[in-house]
Amino acid sequence: MDLYHPLNIGRLQLSGNLFLAPVAGYTDRAFRSICAEAGAVLSFTELISAEALSRLALSGKGETGALKDEEGFPPIARRGKKEGRCGIQLFGADPAVLGRVCALLAPLRPDVVDLNAGCPVLKVIKTGAGSALMRDPSRLGRAVEAMAAAARETLGGVPVTVKLRSGWDAASLNYAECARIAVEAGAAMVSIHPRTRAQGYAGKSDWSLIADLAGRLPVPVAGSGDLHTPEDARRMLAETGCAAVMFARGAMGNPFIFSAARALLSGVSWKTPEAPERIAAALRHLEMLAEDIGEKRACLEMRKQFCAYTRGVMGLPGISRGAALREKLVRAGTIAQYREILAYYM
Ligand SMILES: Cc1cc2nc3c(=O)[nH]c(=O)nc-3n(C[C@H](O)[C@H](O)[C@H](O)COP(=O)(O)O)c2cc1C
Repeated sequence: MDLYHPLNIGRLQLSGNLFLAPVAGYTDRAFRSICAEAGAVLSFTELISAEALSRLALSGKGETGALKDEEGFPPIARRGKKEGRCGIQLFGADPAVLGRVCALLAPLRPDVVDLNAGCPVLKVIKTGAGSALMRDPSRLGRAVEAMAAAARETLGGVPVTVKLRSGWDAASLNYAECARIAVEAGAAMVSIHPRTRAQGYAGKSDWSLIADLAGRLPVPVAGSGDLHTPEDARRMLAETGCAAVMFARGAMGNPFIFSAARALLSGVSWKTPEAPERIAAALRHLEMLAEDIGEKRACLEMRKQFCAYTRGVMGLPGISRGAALREKLVRAGTIAQYREILAYYM
């Protein structure tokens, strides 16, 4: 089979296998839309607290409270205007809450509901959620079971998936056991970022574990970790036999990595976008974000992103005079100021 290929996750039919991974603080619906335009076939929201959504549901009138329609949800959870297929990632420790919240997601029309079992952040793990779920595989299984039942009953059978790490630490690499339990409980895909919780985001991810998992599971395995260039994606697909790859840090400020990877995998030529195209994408991103969170906050949020859009990200040459440009960008406070600073490059 070609490395770029259609993929089914449960009943969801996807035209390709290049995904945008969940990345907190980055994969808002504006960026997901930009990535979908560039060729991300499925994008994930950042981790969203099931407990917080559950409280929102209790805050209004009626059974679903404030979550009775799409507008009741935080923008981060809502589908972007130009977004294609979207997976909503929940985190939580209580299977009953995760199941209940999964059932409330109908107004968002998710294509996938994903369970975060990989987050290493203290605030999350001390509640028993994120990568702490991997220390309690039976609870992980009950959480998937509750979510899959809710998805069957109220979301028309939307697939439930799980994102794992390799384990809690080097002494407990239990990804295979967690994945088996998750699949038995109804997970239709397992994603793995093969670093342990103890590793955080440092060091190298161990792709041999992706290969091991892909060889064991009857459902698709999506690989994550150290995908910085289109060539990395090709190597991961070829070396591990995983069904899909998920770009994370490699896509930040570089949504073009999706079109580049697709071209590389399909053996067609691809032209590196010139500065005007990259800046136009960044400005579109800013404008969409401003619609969601207001111009002032969006301009602040986008500082880090513009720097990434204009930095010489691996695989793309830097924009000329990038350092001087970034110096100005980090002071921009309005969309008009961004436009003025960038006019020279457009
Ligand atoms: C700042 C940051 C935020 C992240 N947020 C999430 C998240 O919300 N949910 C999740 O499952 N993974 C999250 N991840 C992990 C990524 O999805 C990905 O698995 C990881 O970064 C490895 O891929 P990479 O080395 O190509 O970046 C995050 C990673 C980073 C760096």
